[in-house]
Amino acid sequence: MRSTKAVIDLAALRHNLRTIKSIASGSKVMAVVKANAYGHGLVQIAKALTNDADMFAVATVQEALSLRKAEIKTPILLLEGIFNAKDLELVVEHDLEVVLHHWPQIEALQNFKTDKQIKVWVKLDSGMHRLGFALQDLALIESTLADISCLANPIRLMSHFASADDPEDDFSATQLEAFDQATKHITTEKSMANSAGILTQKNAHYDWVRPGLLLYGCSPLIGSEASEYDLKPVMSLESQILAIKPIKKGESTGYGRHWFADRDTNLGLVAIGYGDGYPRHAKNGTPIWVNGRTVPLVGRVSMDMLAVDLGPDCQDAVGDRVVLWGKELPAERVAPHADTIPYTLFCGVTKRVRFYYKDKSNEM
Ligand SMILES: Cc1ncc(COP(=O)(O)O)c(C=O)c1O
Repeated sequence: MRSTKAVIDLAALRHNLRTIKSIASGSKVMAVVKANAYGHGLVQIAKALTNDADMFAVATVQEALSLRKAEIKTPILLLEGIFNAKDLELVVEHDLEVVLHHWPQIEALQNFKTDKQIKVWVKLDSGMHRLGFALQDLALIESTLADISCLANPIRLMSHFASADDPEDDFSATQLEAFDQATKHITTEKSMANSAGILTQKNAHYDWVRPGLLLYGCSPLIGSEASEYDLKPVMSLESQILAIKPIKKGESTGYGRHWFADRDTNLGLVAIGYGDGYPRHAKNGTPIWVNGRTVPLVGRVSMDMLAVDLGPDCQDAVGDRVVLWGKELPAERVAPHADTIPYTLFCGVTKRVRFYYKDKSNEM
């Protein structure tokens, strides 16, 4: 059977949460598990964290309902709030917390009848100019929300960084200053830091941090790797060599003939392609781990396979294990070769890949 698989290390995941807690000691942790836990498996990841995370954050009501269906009782925040007034019925029924980022959501709450108390977070736009109310609207929002009887008190406040992943960019400090100024009169719980903010903006930890990528053992910072912060990769994307083929100097491999051998060598054909989520636009030279070393991707990635240059004197054999990213080869090192970021590598793994969840108790 084709052995292409993603191995998910739940012990590493919990280790990463402990590391985050030690970096942001004193803050509660909202574990971001949206987008199928960044491709790692929503329910499995949430179950592994449910005793240690203070809250889960998701993007859609459907994601929240999957967690409740799996009997996860931890508080859940909808990061983009409700998409229409009807969502409020599900919010109440499943005890979800909601972000409010624009006026139509507040109007839906004004018109909603319930005897339950809904917990809300007001999202403020401190400069990213994506979601969120203008900072100067805060007073009006506060007074409007005070008149809505189904809201639990106190409301909480949040904002989001635009470029905390670039330590050279001082815009995060500008955003932090703006958020701080606008909200310092309110003594309520606040949240600002995503993964990059947790690492680079210690003053932005506030009451709650919101790590996504860090949980999965990957650094969001340009030019750095997770091991520098005592974080361990959670996903290992693995396959095997399905064929070895000698190739002569001057010959090419793959569709479009995008690579030519500059010496006689051996190609390893690896059983993974863009049909599994490996990026098709990964370039010649993208590192791939085989038998304790990295070898270069050569030629175009196909749907079901790709080729690597194993070298003229290779000792590799058909069936040998290959790691596309994981412990042996951090995703941070792979992503730039495909002009992308680790987030898209993780989210892109397709359903054809079999997922295995290992914990200390079932080491593979
Ligand atoms: C509002 C918000 N907070 C936190 C996160 C987590 O981000 P990261 O994975 O960079 O930690 C996200 C992810 O996009 C987000 O949208």
